[in-house]
Amino acid sequence: MSLNWSKKEKPVSKLWSTADRGGPAQSLLAVRGLVKHFPVRDPVWVRPRRAVHAVDGISFEVAKGETLGIVGESGCGKSTTARLIARLLTPDQGSLVFDGEGVAEFGGLSLPDYRRSLQMVFQDSFASLNPRMTVEDTISFGPRVHSMSPAQALARAHALLDRVGLQASQFASRYPHELSGGQRQRINIARALALQPRLLILDEAVAALDKSVQAQVLNLLQELKAEQGLTYLFISHDLHVVQYLCDRVMVMYLGQVVEIGPVGQIYSAARHPYTQALLSAVPSMDPARRTALPPLAGDPPSPINPPAGCRFRDRCPYAEAVCASSSPVLDPLKAPDGLADASHQVACHMATAGSGHSAAAQLPTATPALAGISELEAA
Ligand SMILES: Nc1ncnc2c1ncn2[C@@H]1O[C@H](COP(=O)(O)OP(=O)(O)OP(=O)(O)O)[C@@H](O)[C@H]1O
Ligand code: SF4
Ligand SMILES: [Mg+2]
Repeated sequence: MSLNWSKKEKPVSKLWSTADRGGPAQSLLAVRGLVKHFPVRDPVWVRPRRAVHAVDGISFEVAKGETLGIVGESGCGKSTTARLIARLLTPDQGSLVFDGEGVAEFGGLSLPDYRRSLQMVFQDSFASLNPRMTVEDTISFGPRVHSMSPAQALARAHALLDRVGLQASQFASRYPHELSGGQRQRINIARALALQPRLLILDEAVAALDKSVQAQVLNLLQELKAEQGLTYLFISHDLHVVQYLCDRVMVMYLGQVVEIGPVGQIYSAARHPYTQALLSAVPSMDPARRTALPPLAGDPPSPINPPAGCRFRDRCPYAEAVCASSSPVLDPLKAPDGLADASHQVACHMATAGSGHSAAAQLPTATPALAGISELEAA
């Protein structure tokens, strides 16, 4: 059943999420140079003051109607990025542009208007819900706060409940502890949709669900996206799910973006050694597809004192002197004819002609230890 808000129910004022302004060619969200360092609580005599470099100057865009996946090892800054975008955290540096308007800037989109345009769904479905509120109160709370009449808000909550596959007559008056994990996550999705956002940030939203429930929730998310014209930012450790759901993938390492591109291109022809290593670690049901060696050796360096130059160099089998002396920047890949492919960007000296790396002219697509999925499948 699709959601068709009646005219009476529809938001009537700017109190609700912002309408499309720039058309499909304009990005829904542009993230520009976001930085977030968390100060370490050292004793006062420790100088200089230290900080966790959780997010260190990341820039990317999210197109209208797409699903952008964010992947990377634990602690690389995915959730911090999501919280910065949702403005649950204030960035130390950088800015956000939402559908062409600067967020919280003079003459731009106010923070309350921006916050209504996006919602987040977290991994922990129980902690995200107020244990003292019934399901219908939880879902109708946002609309009521934003001036919808209690009766309308309740009607909306019931419609949303039905839409996420939970009969309102059966579930509306239940409390979170009376629901399964999958049902609670459906409630979280319904609550997120109650304010008709344009962007949904899903931070490991299906990670805690078993595979069959996960598949149902993923299908629901796909349907809702098509129905409501939503845009998703999808954070996940599960590279199979990312491949299934996402249009593009952004790979993060130690607070920075190392590769971003269309999902097909990343999964079949990743160019950054870290992306190749991540993909080679994906388990396969195919017994013919085996990896002999653990694809990534060692732990990531400390985010308190990240290494100079390329942050991946301590674990990269291709590292050369230039990797320690200068930081690679995220650049569009160059095709053999010299034309740049703006859709696929990589931060690696091997992908930048003239960087000083011996392989800059021709990047090997894979080695036995760092083989990408395509090569392993062909083997
Ligand atoms: N409030 C905070 N105070 C101090 N450090 C923090 C805070 N939040 C996050 N960090 C640190 O910032 C870094 C990035 O954390 P973040 O939660 O963004 O990682 P993540 O990629 O989401 O990891 P995971 O995949 O495990 O969820 C980590 O080193 C983490 O310890
Ligand atoms: S810049 Fe150097 S160390 Fe970093 S990924 Fe590329 S080759 Fe490896
Ligand atoms: Mg996280």
